[in-house]
Amino acid sequence: MIDKFKTLLWFLSKPTFYRHGIELFLRKFRSNCDSSLHVAQATDWAEQHTVSVQEALELVGLSEEGSETPKIDKQLVAEANSLAQQSKVKMGGAGDIHLIYAATLLSKAKIAIETGVAYGWSSLSMLAGLDDDPSSLLVSIDMPYPKMNNEGYVGIVVPHFLQKKWHLIRQPDRRGIMKAIKKINQPVDICHYDSDKSYYGRSYGYPLLWNALKKGGIFISDDIQDNLAFKNFVESKNLIFAVTEYKGKYIGITKK
Ligand SMILES: C[S@@+](CC[C@H](N)C(=O)[O-])C[C@H]1O[C@@H](n2cnc3c(N)ncnc32)[C@H](O)[C@@H]1O
Repeated sequence: MIDKFKTLLWFLSKPTFYRHGIELFLRKFRSNCDSSLHVAQATDWAEQHTVSVQEALELVGLSEEGSETPKIDKQLVAEANSLAQQSKVKMGGAGDIHLIYAATLLSKAKIAIETGVAYGWSSLSMLAGLDDDPSSLLVSIDMPYPKMNNEGYVGIVVPHFLQKKWHLIRQPDRRGIMKAIKKINQPVDICHYDSDKSYYGRSYGYPLLWNALKKGGIFISDDIQDNLAFKNFVESKNLIFAVTEYKGKYIGITKK
């Protein structure tokens, strides 16, 4: 009870988070699309469609059969690991940085958007893969974890030299995504979704981000085994897609 009250106070102290807080409250009255049954169905579906990272890149037209998958620089990852050690707060873990890096690099992306930063492993991978053009930009949206005081550590693994291509919006998806799209103000080349993993969160975020993508743009979503949102999304649009597995979790990738 006290904990719930503290969370309420945390939201009340942040007017730009009100829409997210109201949404969380309203979800209590909606049907549960993140139940264990949905998780089981989504996991089965993801398992059935799982291919290697290289095959996934081929399926969405980013790579040719037999090519070698580009890998993020080892030194950059080693430095990022030592930056991560400086965080005094434990945050959400990284997805498959090699997939995110390869998709960004091979799509020759200049304009990228992502939701969910935490330590910033996906931000690092996208920034490292972005085109060298000085106008290249990644806009990230991240709401810090409630009551954790982790604000100072969000994006900690992104080194200074990559930060000039980076704009971080520290707000929930509800507000943050629209703000990011406005800031970018042009079609997006690649998108990575890794924030609100609930069915309703994805149902809000996916269409907005999809509409912001250019034709041929790449859309990646982490943890698609959590519910049927990614499956429903690609099926409803009849999209070519692939699924990869990383540490027992599944990542969906598709192309507009
Ligand atoms: C799994 S972590 C992201 C990991 C990150 N992509 C990486 O590779 O290091 C999820 C992040 O999304 C944030 N988040 C959760 N719900 C959110 C929401 N509704 N809006 C914005 N950010 C949210 C969390 O606070 C956390 O920082």
